[in-house]
Amino acid sequence: RTVYVNGAYLPEEEARVSIFDRAFLFADGVYEVTSVIDGKLVDFAGHARRLARSLAELDMPAPCSEDELLAIHRELIRRNGLTEGMIYLQVTRGAADRDFAWSEGMTPTLVLFTQARALIDSPAAERGLKVISLEDLRWGRRDIKTVQLLYPSMAKMQAKARGKDDAWLVEDGFVTEGTSNNAWIVTRDGVLVTRDLSNRILHGITRAAVLRFAREAQMRVEERPFTIDEAKDAAEAFVTAATTFVTPVVEIDDAPVGDGAPGPVARRLRAIYIEESR
Ligand code: PDD
Repeated sequence: RTVYVNGAYLPEEEARVSIFDRAFLFADGVYEVTSVIDGKLVDFAGHARRLARSLAELDMPAPCSEDELLAIHRELIRRNGLTEGMIYLQVTRGAADRDFAWSEGMTPTLVLFTQARALIDSPAAERGLKVISLEDLRWGRRDIKTVQLLYPSMAKMQAKARGKDDAWLVEDGFVTEGTSNNAWIVTRDGVLVTRDLSNRILHGITRAAVLRFAREAQMRVEERPFTIDEAKDAAEAFVTAATTFVTPVVEIDDAPVGDGAPGPVARRLRAIYIEESR
């Protein structure tokens, strides 16, 4: 596999990043994951816009222009012959002697790699996910897509240890989001509900696209917090993320959601999302 590091396309074994990189020592870095279908990027503009915002919020300089980033993405797809899967991009503040304070004018590190994976034909989407609820113990700026992913990893491991697929995180009684996706429910009267944007959740690019498609399809939509109890009592539940599109949730804390099978609204939105993305 060919990867990209600071201006160079290299075999993955030859790629190098300093052990003094602040992403390694302080999780001082941000990332994006963009999916690829039929060899084409899905919603690159949305991911580029969010990356720019993450960088600005952390006073981190952009490593290059958006046009250059797009060219790098396309070149990696070409070099790796990627037709379906994802591209991971990470920008870090760069390397310096270990010190909590950083200095101005550091040279950012830019890394990209591809991962081939079947996204459209997904057993998880056919089956639906089983989730557990856990307290959301992450920091308060989840709107910034940082590489500080230890708690989500721990939550996912806890779900696996209990024989489930994922966790929905709960704060002050309300669901924030999944470990690596945005959480949605469909109420018994058919209203789509997903949490409103704030610092408490990542502003998902897939979330924004699905909101747009749902409104275009005349579905009723509410952006507001909901509790785990409301979710358990809902007609349907699902999650959205770049790599999983729309994926139904069929069980929450051992209780079936609706009839315990992927529901019609989630299936329809998944179909629309894939259709619109190719
Ligand atoms: N995760 N919320 C969290 C905490 C996430 O990590 C993600 C994405 C999302 C969905 O955002 P988007 O629709 O823009 O992918 C929501 C990526 C896929 C990851 O970490 O692999």
